[in-house]
Amino acid sequence: MPLLFSYGTLQDERVQLDLFGRRLVGQRDELLGYEQTLVRVADPDFARTSGKAEHAMLRPASNARAVVAGTAFEVTDDELERADRYEPAEYRRLLAALASGRPAWVYVDASRVPEPSRLVCRRARAEDFAALAQMLELYQYELSDIWPQDLDAQGRYGYDLTHHRHGERFHAHLALDGDRYIGFALVAPAVVTRKGGSWMEQFFVLKRHRRTGAGAALARHVLRSHPGPWEVGQMPANAVAQAFWRRVIGDVTGGEFVEVRVTEGWWQGVVQQFDIGPGKGTVA
Ligand SMILES: CC(C)(COP(=O)(O)OP(=O)(O)OC[C@H]1O[C@@H](n2cnc3c(N)ncnc32)[C@H](O)[C@@H]1OP(=O)(O)O)[C@@H](O)C(=O)NCCC(=O)NCCS
Repeated sequence: MPLLFSYGTLQDERVQLDLFGRRLVGQRDELLGYEQTLVRVADPDFARTSGKAEHAMLRPASNARAVVAGTAFEVTDDELERADRYEPAEYRRLLAALASGRPAWVYVDASRVPEPSRLVCRRARAEDFAALAQMLELYQYELSDIWPQDLDAQGRYGYDLTHHRHGERFHAHLALDGDRYIGFALVAPAVVTRKGGSWMEQFFVLKRHRRTGAGAALARHVLRSHPGPWEVGQMPANAVAQAFWRRVIGDVTGGEFVEVRVTEGWWQGVVQQFDIGPGKGTVA
């Protein structure tokens, strides 16, 4: 489960019950390299609800030994999204290191966050599916040299996303740079080399955002979102994808994966098999 480090109102049980409908389970910890300050929040509703004029805020510390005390709570991806909606615009969520060695999400001063932290990886919502379908068109065209397909009467490849919309055994995830889409991942039930678990059905990062770590961040988010057995496959001619997945899966599993070459059946190519346990895939 992802960790959310709180140094402010989220430690308050009343806020937890209001926001998540449950008391969070957490452990005291410290955040490295940040210092605490106060900020005036522009949103009048937030200030009214909290009853305070000024709120705790974090910014990068000039003193390398600075730490901020707080609590690391175990939360679900849905709860993280709920927390995003709760926090006012002055706060931005990023992954940071705790004194315990665990990575955790934390809200810091949005105006002090460098550009790469604008990267957001999250599940697709109903309103994202038009953009997702459009990105699939770009993806299918890019791979059309090695994955030959024809356009339909409307000039589209028209990937079928019916199952992913319901999100029961099929899932869709997105990478965004701020509020702009930059990539996606589709997950389906594993069926190529394994009987249970997850299969990385499709995975794509827009060209302009490649080699910035966006793909690796999206992959970690997706793997962490679906713990259990995994299989990820690449077509034999897709050498870049093979380099990418060997690197990412190697990092996430500490090298504990098996690679096989599938030469029979409806899908053929290079396949990595591995398991994601709770907590794996969270390393930034
Ligand atoms: C494969 C793909 C998703 C990689 O996305 P990305 O955002 O560029 O990947 P990252 O920047 O996170 O790269 C992580 C690591 O993967 C490896 N990698 C990524 N692209 C690589 C390339 N072109 N050549 C060699 N290694 C590469 C590197 O080890 C890289 O780490 P480094 O930059 O520190 O060296 C992207 O190239 C893509 O969308 N390709 C077209 C669609 C596709 O093939 N999808 C995969 C289908 S299985």
